Amino acid sequence: MSRRMLVAGNWKMYTTSGEGATLVQDVADLLEMLDVEAEVAVCPPFTGLKAVSTLIELDHLTIALGAQDCHWESEGAYTGAIAPRMLADLRCSYVIVGHSERREYFGETDETVNKKVRAVFDAGMTPIMCVGESLAVREALETEAFVRQQVRIGAEGLTPEQAARLVVAYEPIWAIGTGRTPTPEAANDVARSIRATLGAVYGPPVAMQVRVLYGGSVKPENAKMFFEEPDVDGGLIGGAALKADSFVDIVKAAR
Ligand code: PGA
Repeated sequence: MSRRMLVAGNWKMYTTSGEGATLVQDVADLLEMLDVEAEVAVCPPFTGLKAVSTLIELDHLTIALGAQDCHWESEGAYTGAIAPRMLADLRCSYVIVGHSERREYFGETDETVNKKVRAVFDAGMTPIMCVGESLAVREALETEAFVRQQVRIGAEGLTPEQAARLVVAYEPIWAIGTGRTPTPEAANDVARSIRATLGAVYGPPVAMQVRVLYGGSVKPENAKMFFEEPDVDGGLIGGAALKADSFVDIVKAAR
């Protein structure tokens, strides 16, 4: 079973609409000179989605668009929130769900993550469901049990077809934006355990199709090591996705 690698840039709360348009254009220009095997996605803040989407469409760019969050309802009196169908309308293919920053600063739980995962599928898009342990959990040697629980609850109630399309990003919280990373082998162990958890619920053939990304201080210098691991199917890239050349160097490492 060959899974197509995915390299997704999470621009977090960094780019204005104009900056995002420039960045995606720069990324596209660099990608054009390459024979890229991986699927490439960018996830601007909500306010940048329209401009980036328009550029992708007009210039026929082979870059997928993703959002960083959404609500689980398809409409309603939820001031400030964005519904999945609004993102689908802007031609988003992906929505990041349950990023550790959302869990930490916006009170997201495995249960709300699950509602969002299902809502994103229902709107015809693919969730990139983020999981990962804190340093305390890691030091207590409870990483796999903790992540398995996040995956079990987060991915509950999917159809087998949806489960097969799911993308899970394993992002140890202590590795995000810190320059620290687990060893590639340790990341692969957790990725394998994520796949096994999904296999126990949806069956191994479904789990073999799920893409598991690694995220947390991925840089051009270390990307290849992670991407070479058998259960790691790409990366979710934060800081290094904000510069076109470093992001594209990471994409190059995904072959
Ligand atoms: P980082 O962020 O690459 O800056 O560590 C990754 C993420 O938060 O998705």
